[in-house]
Amino acid sequence: MDNHVMNTYSRFDLTLVSGHGPWVTDDKGDEYLDFVSGIAVNCLGHAAPAIVKTIEEQAKKLIHVSNLYWNEPQIQLAGMLAERSGLDRVFFNNSGTEANETALKIARKYGYVKGSGSKNKIICMHDSFHGRSMGALTVTSQEKYRAPFRPLIGEVYDAVFNDLDSVRALMDENVCAVILEPVQGESGILPATAEFMAGVRELCDQYDALLIFDEVQCGMGRSGQLFAYQTYGVLPDICTTAKALGGGFPIGAVIANDRAAEHFVPGDHGCTFGGNPLACACGVTVMEELFDNGVLDNVNAMSAYLFEKLEALKASYPEKINLVRGMGLLVGVQMKEGYKSGVQAGALANKLLLAGAGNEVIRFLPPLNVTKEEIDAAVARFEAAVAAAEKAE
Ligand SMILES: Cc1ncc(COP(=O)(O)O)c(C=O)c1O
Repeated sequence: MDNHVMNTYSRFDLTLVSGHGPWVTDDKGDEYLDFVSGIAVNCLGHAAPAIVKTIEEQAKKLIHVSNLYWNEPQIQLAGMLAERSGLDRVFFNNSGTEANETALKIARKYGYVKGSGSKNKIICMHDSFHGRSMGALTVTSQEKYRAPFRPLIGEVYDAVFNDLDSVRALMDENVCAVILEPVQGESGILPATAEFMAGVRELCDQYDALLIFDEVQCGMGRSGQLFAYQTYGVLPDICTTAKALGGGFPIGAVIANDRAAEHFVPGDHGCTFGGNPLACACGVTVMEELFDNGVLDNVNAMSAYLFEKLEALKASYPEKINLVRGMGLLVGVQMKEGYKSGVQAGALANKLLLAGAGNEVIRFLPPLNVTKEEIDAAVARFEAAVAAAEKAE
C-alpha cells in the first residue's frame, strides 16, 4: 500500500483496528494484551464505556465553541483539577508539549514582571523529556533530541536529576523557573528522591523562582495519587498534565497557583481548541472514575501486585533483569545490557505490547483499572519473553 505518512516514528509493523479494556486487535484478527495504553493515555482502557458515553452525549450537545465564550465542561474540569491539585487556575490546551510550552511562558512572564529584564533563566534536568516544540525541546536535556535543531531558546541550563547541589550551583535571582518530572518517564521511570523534591522547592522559594512539575506521564492517577508530587508532599507553582487527562481524547492542561497565574493575562497566550467542551467532558469523566468509582484505589492495589510479581521474576532471572522501579502503575523493568530489544520483540511475539524507555528499561503502563488476572496474563507473557531472550552482541 502507498503510504504518505511522514517518516518520523520507528513503528512496530502492526496495524490496530479495535480494542476493549487492555486488549487490542490487529487487522489480521490477532489479539494483544496492551500494557502500553497509548503511552500512558488510555487510563480506563480501550472503548471504556464511561468515555464512549461521554463522547456520544457531549458530541450531540456541543463539540467546540472557541475561547471567545465560556463552556460548562471547561469550568467544571478546571474546578476539579484546582480542588484536587492544591493549585488555583487552569489553562487548557491539547497535548503535553503545549502544556509545557505554556508553563515556560508563564515562567518567563513571571520573571519579566518580577525582574529587571534579566530574570529569565530556566533550569531543567539531564535525561528529562518535556516534548518536541522549540521551548519544550530546549528543556529536554538529551543531546540526541536537541542536536539537529539548534539554535534552541536561550537561557536554559542543565542540572542533574536527584543532585541538589547541581541545582544549587545554577540558582540565582535571575532564575525564573525550575522544571522537572517527579518521575522521569521517557528516560527509564526514575522517581525523584524526597530530599531532591523538597530541596528544589526550598531553592525556588529562596530565589523567587517558579517550580514546574511536568506530570504529563506520571500524573492523572498513574502514580497512585492524582499527581505524583502529592506522594512527596511538595507543592509546585505549576503542574502540567495531558496524556491520561482525557482518557484517550486529546487534552492538555497547565494548573498554576495564583502567584504564577496572576501575571498571565489576555494577549499573553491562547489556544483555539484548548478547553473545548468535548475534551473537557472527557476529563471530567476521568476525574469521576478516579475518585468516585474506585480507579485510584485500584492503582494502589494493582501496583503492589505488579511489583511483587516483577520482583519475583527478577529473582528468577538475575542474569537478565537488573531492577524493577517506578511508582503506582508506572513501572520500569531495567534489563541487563543486551537484553532489552530481544525481550521486547519476544513480548510482541507472545502478544504482549510493552513500551521501551531509555537506559535499558521496558515500561509497564497498563490501564489504571487493570485487574489481577490481566496482570497475571501480562507477566506470564513477559516471563516467556525473558526466558527465551538471548543477549544481543
Ligand atoms: C513527561 C512528558 N512530558 C511531555 C511529553 C510530551 O507530551 P505530548 O506527546 O502529549 O506532547 C511527554 C510525552 O511522552 C512526557 O512523557
